This record gives sequence, C-alpha cells and structure tokens, in this order.
Amino acid sequence: MIRLNLKKEKTIMSISRKIRVGVIFGGKTIEHEISLLSAKNVIRAMDPEKYEVIPIGIDKMGQWHVKDGYTFLTTSQHPKFLHQSDPKEHVTLITQGEKNQLISLSGKFETKSIDVIFPVLHGLLGEDGTIQGLLQLARVPFVGAGVLGSALGMDKEVMKRLFRDAGIPTARFISFSQHEIENWSFNRITSQLGLPLFVKPANTGSSIGISKVTSEEQFSKAIRLAFEYDQKAIIEEYIPAREIECGVIGNEELIASVPGEVLYPSHEFYSYEAKYFDSTLQIQIPAPLDAQLTSHIRELAIKAFKTLCCQGMARVDFFLKKNGEVLLNEINTIPGFTNSSPFPKLWEASGLPYSKLIDTLIQLAINRFEKDKKIKTSYS
Ligand SMILES: Nc1ncnc2c1ncn2[C@@H]1O[C@H](COP(=O)(O)OP(=O)(O)O)[C@@H](O)[C@H]1O
Ligand SMILES: [Mg+2]
Repeated sequence: MIRLNLKKEKTIMSISRKIRVGVIFGGKTIEHEISLLSAKNVIRAMDPEKYEVIPIGIDKMGQWHVKDGYTFLTTSQHPKFLHQSDPKEHVTLITQGEKNQLISLSGKFETKSIDVIFPVLHGLLGEDGTIQGLLQLARVPFVGAGVLGSALGMDKEVMKRLFRDAGIPTARFISFSQHEIENWSFNRITSQLGLPLFVKPANTGSSIGISKVTSEEQFSKAIRLAFEYDQKAIIEEYIPAREIECGVIGNEELIASVPGEVLYPSHEFYSYEAKYFDSTLQIQIPAPLDAQLTSHIRELAIKAFKTLCCQGMARVDFFLKKNGEVLLNEINTIPGFTNSSPFPKLWEASGLPYSKLIDTLIQLAINRFEKDKKIKTSYS
C-alpha cells in the first residue's frame, strides 16, 4: 500500500452547506456512451452528506441539460442500450462573475452557482482543453488538467514529441494529416517502422479508429478508418509487450498509485470491445512486477504527468517489453470511471477507496482554483 501524503492539500474553501458539484457528462463525442457509464459511477460514489450533485448532461448535439440531467443516466450498463433523452431544458455556463455561473437558456430553471465542476467527459470537446477553457472563463473550479495539460494529453503526436523531448521512451512513430498522405507510401513507412504497425487517429480514445496492420491492404483500410475520426493520423511501430497502467493524482505534490496490468486474453490488443464488452478482461492489481520495475514505472508516470503539465489526475499507460524495457504509451487526463476502468481500482488498491478518491479530486480542484485566484491580473 502506498502512503498517501495529502496533508498539504487541505481544503482552503470552507463552506457550511454541502459542496455543490456539477458533474458534466455525455458530450458531442464518440465516447459519449462511455462518459455516461463513468459519470454514473462518479455520482454514485459521491457522499450525499457532503455534496449536492447537479447532473449536467451534454447531448450529442452539444446542448446542455440540467433539469433532466439524470435521465441521461439510464439504468442499463451497456452503452448500446443507453437512451438519449430529449429534455426541453437548455442551460449554459456564463463567463463572468463567480456566482450563478449556470444559467437557463429556456428560462425554466433557476440560476445556480456551482462550487466545483467534475467533467466526466472522454475524448474530443471534453478531455482536450475545450471545456476546460470554458470552465476557466466561467471562473469555476474544476477537476483534472487545465487547458494546456488536457490539450497535450489528447493529441497523441504532440504528447509523444514532448515525451521524446523529456527523455521518456515511447514507440517510434510517424504522423501526418490527410493532405500530406501522398508523401507517405506503405513502403516508406514500413522501411522506417517495420511491420506490424499500429494506425490511429491522433485524437481519439477508447481505442476507437485504431487498427493493427500487417499488410498494405490492411494499411489502406486502417488509414481510411483513422481519417474518419480525425484530420491527423499517427502510425506507430508495433510493440509486443505487457500493458501496465498507473494512476497519478495531485497538483504540486504528486502521488502515483500501485501499477496494474491489463489482460485481455480474447483479443489481439486492448480494443474497444476488449475494454467494455469482454468478460475475460482482467486488471491485475498490483501488477506482478519486481520492486525495481514498480518504482521505475511510478516515477515515469509522475514524470509524464509533469511533462504534459497535467493537474489533478491522470492515468498513465505503459508497454513493458520482455527484456524489461518500459515505453510510455499514452496519458489520459480524464481516465475512465466505468465498472471495468482501472483508474478507481488502482486507487482503491493504493488506499484511496472510490468516495475518498472523489473527495480528493474535488479538494485538489478547489485548492488549485484558490491558488490561481492569487495570480495578479493587473500590472501595478
Ligand atoms: N504501438 C503499439 N504497439 C502495440 N500495441 C499498441 C500500440 N499502440 C496501441 N496499441 C494497442 O492499442 C490499444 C489502444 O491504443 P492507445 O494508443 O492506448 O489508444 P486509446 O487512447 O484509444 O486508448 C493499446 O492499449 C494497445 O493494446
Ligand atoms: Mg489507451
């Protein structure tokens, strides 16, 4: 078990009533359904004695709904059966003042002030800095990375360039946008990266649009698929390896969780199906690693978190090769909170049960906000 030293992270804000937390979920993204599954668990884990939850559902059109927020979270755990509600209530955040940030556009909902927002959104328009920019303009504390960390963590090419710069090993890669594709023949790519290859959209999550490629024919298909989801693709050398994941939380004082190992015996790689629909998926916590590798991975996770200017929380994913070499695969600034997601499990095993984890993340968000408020905004 890891000793959690969060003493320096005492709550600065003291309010006598319950803390009002806006939980934002859904979103105009291909990971909409996964976000609903995550949000259900986050809300369930929040202590009702401490928190008043305001569920804010963003529908697939990008509209925000509060009054019917809970109807987004239907009873099914299976994304394919989740219903899209059709609420009449539209709200937005206003970008001035620290009070009453959440306002009704349809006039059917009283204006609300929110103490802190927990964005439980995955992928574009949620995990990429866009919503974080809006929350920052609305001057509301929020959980997780800010604009910069979120944007860097979303873009697999930029992320890897920064890791390379920091001396953190990653799989070799080539990246290009759709209009540059004619410069990159299959032969040119395989002469640099070998075969098999991994072809990915640069900005997705949940393994959506990702293919393992062993032939030119598969490559063309994979590229077409990647460009359905993004303007930019990233091609990586194939790394035959175990997959190890590690949680990091904190703002200044960073703590890494015990690492876990993801096992997906029925799949060739950790695909969307393996992540959410496979009963043979296993997350072994702690990962069976010797003490030296465990501490190396935990240190690298913290280094990666700092390199990408993250805050609050992230899950850092690694490849562990047979020869003991550790490569960083990616960082997730809003890790999954679904039933099969490793992040809360890693913390549970590290001594932070689900509801304590949520408490800590909310506390970190408020602390960061209070510190940021002290930054001068005028020159005198
Ligand atoms: N270069 C690679 N070599 C081997 N497997 C890979 C490689 N890149 C990705 N994978 C497999 O694909 C999965 C998803 O890729 P990842 O880059 O983590 O995308 P996502 O952000 O969608 O999770 C990984 O967990 C791993 O199983
Ligand atoms: Mg991944």
